[in-house]
Amino acid sequence: MNATLEQAQELDRRDPLARWRDEFVIDDPDLIYLDGNSLGRLPKRSAARVREVVEREWGQRLIRGWGDGWLTAPQRIGAQIARLIGAAADEVIVGDSTTVNLFKLVMAALHARPDRRKIVTDDLNFPTDVYVLQGAAKLAGNRLDVVRSEDGITVPSAALAAAIDADAALVELTHTAFKSGYVYDMKTITEAAHRAGALMLWDLCHSVGAMPLALDACGVDLAVGCTYKYLNGGPGAPAFLFVRRDLQEQLLSPIWGWFGQRGQFDMTLDYQPAPGITRFLAGTPTLLSLAAVEPSVEMILEAGIDRLREKSVRQTEYLMALWEEMLAPLGVKLNSPRDATCRGSHVSLGHPEGLRIDRALIEEMRVIPDFRFPDNIRLGIAPLYTSYADVYEGIARLRRVIVERRYEKYPHARPAVT
Ligand SMILES: Cc1ncc(COP(=O)(O)O)c(C=O)c1O
Repeated sequence: MNATLEQAQELDRRDPLARWRDEFVIDDPDLIYLDGNSLGRLPKRSAARVREVVEREWGQRLIRGWGDGWLTAPQRIGAQIARLIGAAADEVIVGDSTTVNLFKLVMAALHARPDRRKIVTDDLNFPTDVYVLQGAAKLAGNRLDVVRSEDGITVPSAALAAAIDADAALVELTHTAFKSGYVYDMKTITEAAHRAGALMLWDLCHSVGAMPLALDACGVDLAVGCTYKYLNGGPGAPAFLFVRRDLQEQLLSPIWGWFGQRGQFDMTLDYQPAPGITRFLAGTPTLLSLAAVEPSVEMILEAGIDRLREKSVRQTEYLMALWEEMLAPLGVKLNSPRDATCRGSHVSLGHPEGLRIDRALIEEMRVIPDFRFPDNIRLGIAPLYTSYADVYEGIARLRRVIVERRYEKYPHARPAVT
């Protein structure tokens, strides 16, 4: 292909979504940011909205802000996110972290299947998910069955289906695997869980905002997801949870808090779960963080999630073509699926010196990817703002680091954050 930066710039000129990049704060155009799958960039609209909430709503309206829309923000923003994940407006609510929401839904599910002892997951899952499952299994007296991936990249649906038997209470998986970017077949696995009588819980952290999802059409029971990756909600932004409507009244959060109480301001001392999805709230929402989420979700809805997925697929295909031409001959492996239909919006490249290469990229090449143990240099495409020129430059600079052996001057020790 003999790729050039000019070709990438031509692809940018023809990109119908290119204008969205101007909606983000980009103060250094030479910095190649390929980590929007960990922390999305700052949308200008979110910065303005947070300023308004701080200065006008908090500064002037004070406690009256709760009556002006703060109290209903978790439901209101949940309803917007519902449109991105193929759910009904009253099936999603925003609040707490992904980890806390996982705990709530896992415990609720285990209590709803008291005669079953098994929880099924796999070893591509994100550590916090597995820790929550381990903790919940200990609390509720269940056992955890972790299905192994043969290649570290995928887990076939059939291998999962084989582990889901009549003793399974719950199946919990991350829809887009955090290292390899493998995307599971949501419908097939959800059906396998239901055939066995188990509940299905999906972690959507690496999927939401990067691809259309169809939770209701797939019959999904439960889901969680974060808002700081492709939804650009900012560091520590609250997560969301989804509970299928007909299950809501059957399930109970293990955290009985006053925001999940029926008639919250009656201040009675007997817990009565609020109707519907609201029962899954716990305490006061983190309003300032929540404020940043709303405009950024609106932007994704405006741009169109189908069009964003189309661009993401085109860009990950482009990235892989560049890898094949410029990096594979240098011994860099592809640690992600080749097939776009089962690949999310990030690509992992493997190299035994991955950690030090990552370090050199950040410290001297003005490229920000991230690194996932043991050898994954993870490159995230956020189609709302990643340009083809970003992708080209990211790969070209990565090649220079390897060819010029620039990584050799860095220590092997792992920094605190990778
Ligand atoms: C798949 C997945 N689940 C959960 C989390 C983290 O959850 P929390 O927002 O509670 O830190 C991450 C963080 O990157 C993740 O990738």
